[in-house]
Amino acid sequence: MTERKAQLTVEGHDKPIDLPIYPGTLGPDVVDVRGLIKSGFLTYDPGFMSTASCESDITYINGGEGVLLYRGYPIEQLAEHSSFLETCYLLLHGELPSAGERLEFENTIRYHTMVDQGVHRFFNGFPRNAHPMSMLVSVVGALSAFYHDELDISDPTQRTLVAQRIIGKMPTLAAMCYKHGIGQPFMYPRNALSFPENFLHMMFGTPCEENAVSPVLARAIDLIFLLHADHEQNASTSTVRLAGSTGANPYSCFAAGVAALWGPAHGGANEAVLKMLGEIGTESRIDEFIRRAKDPNDPYRLMGFGHRVYKNFDPRAKVMREVCNDVLEDVGEAADNDLFRIARRLEQIALEDDYFINRKLYPNVDFYSGIILKALGIPTSMFTVIFAMGRTPGWMAHWDEMVGGAYRIGRPRQLYRGPGMRDYPVK
Ligand code: SDX
Repeated sequence: MTERKAQLTVEGHDKPIDLPIYPGTLGPDVVDVRGLIKSGFLTYDPGFMSTASCESDITYINGGEGVLLYRGYPIEQLAEHSSFLETCYLLLHGELPSAGERLEFENTIRYHTMVDQGVHRFFNGFPRNAHPMSMLVSVVGALSAFYHDELDISDPTQRTLVAQRIIGKMPTLAAMCYKHGIGQPFMYPRNALSFPENFLHMMFGTPCEENAVSPVLARAIDLIFLLHADHEQNASTSTVRLAGSTGANPYSCFAAGVAALWGPAHGGANEAVLKMLGEIGTESRIDEFIRRAKDPNDPYRLMGFGHRVYKNFDPRAKVMREVCNDVLEDVGEAADNDLFRIARRLEQIALEDDYFINRKLYPNVDFYSGIILKALGIPTSMFTVIFAMGRTPGWMAHWDEMVGGAYRIGRPRQLYRGPGMRDYPVK
């Protein structure tokens, strides 16, 4: 196929600059600007609104149509027919597993759920009221202390082992962050339980009695993980790639992703949505908050609304809204859950308001997830930890895809606006 190209003509430059154009399987074509520096120019794109940082086969998003594909499969179909662990396999290996491959993968993950006893002792150093994300980012990074020397990231088998270890250990570490905060003993994983059941067991079980896990709630938390599993080059995934591009230990790259996710503009939004719905309190106060969100002089934003890529409904929010109904019915809150009622009303009002319509601001993945998590009995401070658990396979799939290919250290440039060269005032 003849190579298409763009031509950049610059006033004062006699020759136009040829820039190759590459097509994707789906989505926008890209203009390769790597040669631009030879002509003395850089591209300028703070926030990377129009920048493709890499080539990837993993996830595709069509923001205009609200489409999300994991390795080509629509998120709605995976949500209906798949499981989180099967989706982890798909993201990591590119294809859905056979029945035998799925069972083998589930077993492999099961036997990586325990963490070194040394990790237990880290928690003794955290204050009881430490935010769970501050503990998670610390202990995940600390895993590099246990798995560094023998690690060869050029070996695909060892890269797969890193991904399996982290996927297996995240539920255990997450539950430890929760248990530390409430002063209860850590619960060890139980191999007889499924992945979601094991997590809920480690979260809410105690050594004093058997803890029966509701299959509806186990399915709901598994679906929450699945819906968060990957999302193309979002801020935290780009952070993992940038850290990984230096050849750093993968557990530390993963910890960098956890750190980036914590921000309220990103994965911290689910916690912020619950706080916002609580502040609104009654449907009669919704207009006041809509007014604040629209006021250009007020930095307040409607949490759980808007998205850099989706300019239509976030398909994950639609699935979450349905799951909300099921979970609230299972816990007997369907009728009088104020938060859900306020959320539905807020969504309805916002979607009829020109400010949100003109800016194509729709509910995103975080808008309903918090209501489900709260109904599951998970405290608000743990919401972003749950998001990090879900995003684990995505972060590891992108890290593996980059390290397994021809990659260079990520090193952006800048538009320098500082002082010109000047001499030190020698007295
Ligand atoms: C996630 O990237 C991913 O894929 C992330 C994620 C994933 O799975 O990894 O999908 C997960 O992070 C979802 C987003 C969660 N964050 C929130 O819900 C926080 C609230 N949302 C906003 O902060 C905002 O919408 C962002 C950060 C999500 C997107 O910001 P952009 O793309 O930089 O958009 P912008 O800030 O330039 O806003 C464009 C306009 C502005 O108004 P004008 O200056 O044009 O007048 O829309 C307004 C903004 O003020 N706007 C909002 C708004 N979001 C954008 N106004 C009110 N409330 C909002 N929520």
